Amino acid sequence: MSFKPQYRSGAEIRQTFLDFYAARGHQIVPSASLIPEDPTVLLTIAGMLPFKPIFLGQRPAPFPRATSSQKCIRTNDIENVGRTARHHTFFEMLGNFSFGDYFKDKAIAWAWELSTEVFGLPPERLVVSVFREDDEAFAIWRDQIGIPAHRIQRMDEADNFWVSGPTGPCGPCSEIYYDFHPERGDDTIDLEDDTRFIEFYNLVFMQYNRDVEGHLTPLQAQNIDTGMGLERMAQILQQVPNNYETDLILPIIKTAAAIAGLDYAQCDAKTQVSLKVIGDHVRAIVHLIADGVTASNLGRGYVLRRLIRRVVRHGRLIGIDREFTADVAATAIALAEAVYPNTRERQAVIQAELQREEARFLETLERGEKLLTDMIARATPKTGQQPGQIAGKDAFILYDTYGFPLELTQEIAEEQGLTVDVAGFEAAMEEQRRRSQEAHETIDLTVQGSLDQLAEHIHATVFRGYTDLTTQSVVEAVLVNGKQVPAAPAGSQVQIVLRETPFYAESGGQIGDRGYLLAADMPSPLTPLSPDEGSSELRVRITDVQKESDFFIHYGEVEAGTLRVGDRVTAQIDVACRRRAQANHTATHLLQAALKKIVDPAISQAGSLVAFDRLRFDFNCPRPLTLEELEQVEAQVNAWIAAATPATVAVMPIAEAKAKGAIAMFGEKYGDQVRVVDYPGVSMELCGGTHVANTAEIGLFKIIAETGIASGVRRIEAVAGQAALDYLTVRDRIVRELGDRFKAKPEELPDRIASLQSELKSAQKQLEQLKAELAIAKSDSLVTQAETVGSFHLLVTQLDGVDAEALKTAAERLQQKLGPQAAVVLGSVLAPDKVSLVAAFGPEVQAKGMQAGKFIGAIAKLCGGGGGGRPNLAQAGGRDASQLPAALRSAQEELQAALRG
Ligand code: ALA
Repeated sequence: MSFKPQYRSGAEIRQTFLDFYAARGHQIVPSASLIPEDPTVLLTIAGMLPFKPIFLGQRPAPFPRATSSQKCIRTNDIENVGRTARHHTFFEMLGNFSFGDYFKDKAIAWAWELSTEVFGLPPERLVVSVFREDDEAFAIWRDQIGIPAHRIQRMDEADNFWVSGPTGPCGPCSEIYYDFHPERGDDTIDLEDDTRFIEFYNLVFMQYNRDVEGHLTPLQAQNIDTGMGLERMAQILQQVPNNYETDLILPIIKTAAAIAGLDYAQCDAKTQVSLKVIGDHVRAIVHLIADGVTASNLGRGYVLRRLIRRVVRHGRLIGIDREFTADVAATAIALAEAVYPNTRERQAVIQAELQREEARFLETLERGEKLLTDMIARATPKTGQQPGQIAGKDAFILYDTYGFPLELTQEIAEEQGLTVDVAGFEAAMEEQRRRSQEAHETIDLTVQGSLDQLAEHIHATVFRGYTDLTTQSVVEAVLVNGKQVPAAPAGSQVQIVLRETPFYAESGGQIGDRGYLLAADMPSPLTPLSPDEGSSELRVRITDVQKESDFFIHYGEVEAGTLRVGDRVTAQIDVACRRRAQANHTATHLLQAALKKIVDPAISQAGSLVAFDRLRFDFNCPRPLTLEELEQVEAQVNAWIAAATPATVAVMPIAEAKAKGAIAMFGEKYGDQVRVVDYPGVSMELCGGTHVANTAEIGLFKIIAETGIASGVRRIEAVAGQAALDYLTVRDRIVRELGDRFKAKPEELPDRIASLQSELKSAQKQLEQLKAELAIAKSDSLVTQAETVGSFHLLVTQLDGVDAEALKTAAERLQQKLGPQAAVVLGSVLAPDKVSLVAAFGPEVQAKGMQAGKFIGAIAKLCGGGGGGRPNLAQAGGRDASQLPAALRSAQEELQAALRG
C-alpha cells in the first residue's frame, strides 16, 4: 500500500491544472484582486467570486468555460492557522468553471482524470463525498468512475452544500479526499478525521441563488464551480507533513527562523506553530498590500493590521527583538513575483507599510508592558499573604487592547512570582466572542454596526471644507476597534465623528484630507502644523477620512491628551496636502476636456483617482493614444493652466446642469441638486471634490504613462502642481546620474546609449560567429567516429549549443569528408524547448532511396517539431529537447537498416 507520489513544485501543480483544463476548452483567466468587486464580501474568498455576476445571470459569460488560479483570503479560521496541517489565511484556489455548459458528469470525470492520471494519485487512496440527497452525483461516482459505494460518503448540508456567502449562488457539492493512512482500513472512514484525510478538491454544482431568508431560487443555468487547494495538493505530492512545509511557504518560514537564529526542523512544537503562523500571514500581508490595502481600523485595513500584529507577536514569542517583517516579506515577494508581478512592483510600498505598522505596534506593546507593571504592583501580595494573581480580566485587556499574548503576560508574571488567572482570561475571551457573534455571524469588521446605533442620536456631519480649512467643532462619537467608547487615551487608534468638519472624506476618486484635531483653546490654529508644538492637552493626528452614509469618519491616533465625546476641538486640515489634492483634481477635469477636444469628443470617464502625489484618469477609448496626441493633450492642459481661468462653483438642479452641458459620469448616481464645477470655456463637470480657485494655481501638468487596463478602457497617469515638481526632480536626478555614468551631457545620452547598444550587438554577433567556427573546427574530429555499415559511412551525433546555421555547415563538411557513401545526421539542443536537426546524405546514400528532407522531417517529429528540404541536405527543428537522444537513436537504427540491406 505504500505509495510515493511524483514530486511536483507548487508552480508545476498550478500550471498543470491550468493546462489540463485549457486543453479541454477552458479559457485561462488570471487571478483577480483580493479586493472583490462584490460588495457583500470583504475579500476574495473563493475562485468563483470574480464570476459571481455571471453565475447570477447579471452579466453574459464571455466564454462557456474558464479556469483560474485565484488568490484568496479567509480569516474565519485564523486561530487554527499553524495549529492544524492545513488552515490558511492566504491560499490559492485552482478552479474550473462552466457557465451553463457542462455539468456533473464531465466535472466529475475530469476531476478524477486529473487527480489520478495527471497527478498520479492511486484510486484506492481517494474517497469522495456527495450531498446526502444527490443521487445523481452518487451514481456518476459509482457507475461511471467505478468507486465502491462504501467509499462514497453521503454528507449533510453543513458539509456538502456550498454557498458563496450569506447570500448568493450555491449548490450541492462533491469533494475528493486523499487518504494518508489507507492501512487503517475501510471500516472506519471518517472524513472529519484530519489526521487521516485531507479534502483537496471541491466540485460545486451551482444551480441556485440563496436569498437572505435562505430561500433557494434556481439559477438560469446549471453551472460548475470547483476549487482545488494548491497548498493541499502540494502537501500531498511533496510528501510533507503539512501545507506550511511545502515549497510555497517553507522558504518564508526559514527566513523568519534564520532571523531568530533558529533551525525550523529542530524547533519545539510551539515555536514551529509561531513560525508557521508567520509563514502563512506574511503571504497574506504581502498580497493585501500589493492589491492596495493599507492598515487601518476598518474592514480590509483591519484584517491587514491584525495579521501584521499577529506576525510581530509571534516574532517576539520566538525571540526576535528587532523589526523583521519587511525582511520576511522580501522572501514572500520572491516566491510570488513570477505569478503575481505586482508584489515585486509594490515591494517598496509593502516594506514601508510593514515597517510603519510594526514600529507602531512595538510602541503599543511597550505601553502594554507599562500597564502590566502596574498590574503586577497591584497583584504583588504583602508579606505573609497568599501568592498573588493577575486577574483574568486584566490579562484580557492586555491581550485585546494591546495585543499582548497571554503567554507573554504569564512569563513576565512568573518572573515576579505571580500567576495569571487563565480561567478568568478565557471566560473574558469567551464573553467577547459571544458578544461579537451576536453582533454578526460572519466577518464584520466595519464600523457600520456601531454607526447604525449612532444614527439614532447624532446628526449627519456638516462639511465646511469647501470654504474653511479650519473649523471649531464638537466630538460626537469616538470608536476604538469599531466599538463606541466615551474616551480614548493617548496612543489609541480611533475613529471620530465630528459635528462639523473641514476634512474632505474620500469620494469621487479624491483621497480624504489629512490634518489634526486640537483642543479648542489652542492658539493660532492656522500657523504651520507641527505636531510637537502647542497645547499638550489634546492632539489627534488624522490620517484618513471616509464617508459612511451621512457620517464622515475621521481615522487617526490620539497623540497627546485624552479625546472625549463632547470635547470642543479645532479641526484643522493639512493645507499643503489639500493643495496637492486639488491641483491634481482640477487637472483631472482639464485632462478630460483636453482628451475630448484633441482625441475624440466621445471619450468618457470610466474612473479616476486623485491622490496627493498623482492622479489617474480612466476613460473609454478603443485604441492606445499616439505619442503626438499625448503631447498635444499635455500641452493643451498646460495652456489652460497658463490662461489663469477662475472657477465658478454653483449648486443647481440636475436638469439645469445638464442643460448647460455639464459632464456627468456615466453610471454615477446624482441627487436632485448637484454641484457644478465650471472653468468657463474649458471644463464644466458635476463634482463634489475640492478644486483650485484658478487654474493658474496648478502650475504644471505632466503625463507619466498611458496604458490599457481592460478592453476598450485606457488609463492616463499624470502629476500636477507640487507633485509634478517632485516628479521632475526625481527624473532630473536620474538623468544626471546617467550622465555621470556614461560621461555624457543629458542631450548626448541618447546617442551615447545607441552607440553602446550597437557595439554590444556587433560584439554579440562576433561571439556567435566564433562559436560557430569553433563548433565546425571541433566537428572535423568527428570523422573518426563514423560507423561503417557495409560500404557506407554513418555518423549520427549530438553537438549541443550549435545553432542551425553552424550545424548545417558542419554536417555538409562531414559528409564531404566521408565521401559519397556517407550519411550524416546532427542534432543540437539550443534551449529546453528548442532543438535543431540536420541531415546530409551523399549521392550513393540517395541512390539507396534515402532522402535527407523526408528523413529528417520524420526524426524531428519525435522531438515535437518538423521540417525538411532537399534530398542531399535538409534541416528541421523540434520543441522538446528531452526527446533528442531517443530521436537520434532511432535515426541511427533506421539508417543502419536501410544502408545494410
Ligand atoms: N467555491 C468552492 C469552494 O470554495 C469550490 O470550495
